[in-house]
Amino acid sequence: MSMKLPFFKKKQTEQNDEQDPENMPEHVAIIMDGNGRWAKKRGLPRIAGHREGVKAVNRVVRAAAQSHVKVLTLYAFSTENWKRPASEIEFLMKLPKEFLHVYLPDLMDNNVRVETIGDIQALPAHTQEAVTYAKDKTKNNDGLLLNFALNYGGRFEIMQAVKQMMADLDCSTLSIDSINEETFANYLFTQGLTDPDLLIRTSGEQRLSNFLLWQLAYTELWFTETYWPDFDEGIFNQALGDYQQRKRRYGGI
Ligand code: IPE
Ligand code: IPE
Ligand code: MG
Repeated sequence: MSMKLPFFKKKQTEQNDEQDPENMPEHVAIIMDGNGRWAKKRGLPRIAGHREGVKAVNRVVRAAAQSHVKVLTLYAFSTENWKRPASEIEFLMKLPKEFLHVYLPDLMDNNVRVETIGDIQALPAHTQEAVTYAKDKTKNNDGLLLNFALNYGGRFEIMQAVKQMMADLDCSTLSIDSINEETFANYLFTQGLTDPDLLIRTSGEQRLSNFLLWQLAYTELWFTETYWPDFDEGIFNQALGDYQQRKRRYGGI
């Protein structure tokens, strides 16, 4: 039996005093950026920043669950990140396994379901295996959905959706007249998920870097100078607090 405390529930009341539970973002997406700069600032190799970033992932998962966020989508590896040196890519591909090895018991204890978006089949076999195992193990959990964007690109996602739709048109399982925003969204990796309410990007960069291009149409954007490895509950709660001050109009008045 696990000796771990149910940490996601533990600090609920003290943590969320300043938040309005009625106005929580249902889906939070995060571009976890700045690992390399975090390491450089300390005279360390870039991979030291990636390793430290794994701890920040654990912190944000706890914080999201405590705040009753339903979906947390984390950008872990983009389709453009293949441009990096082979040694860095090799290290990054080991991290899902390392993260899950350490934290999967906690995720199970706390009812978290693991999912992914992106082209998983192009990842090394050992990475795929770790991810598939975690998805399968957690598939019946109905708490927080922890959704890793792995080998994900917004343009790739839209393009594969179009290709699949063409194939379905070809074999008449789809008709042109039935194509609308809703049916289109069903061809995306995020099928069945609500669009993110809040997007957080760390490290001071203010761009989307090919993340969730379709889904972010009306998302509230929040940026922080903090490098990802320094990200913690306090900053996450600050983002939630700011989100709650926003007035979402969706083109209305
Ligand atoms: C984010 O940190 C992690 C990934 C993109 C995989 P970076 O590695 O991009 O760190 P910086 O932006 O170079 O500091
Ligand atoms: C975006 O960060 C991708 C991930 C966080 C996985 P990058 O560091 O790759 O983005 P750019 O290159 O600065 O736009
Ligand atoms: Mg970066």
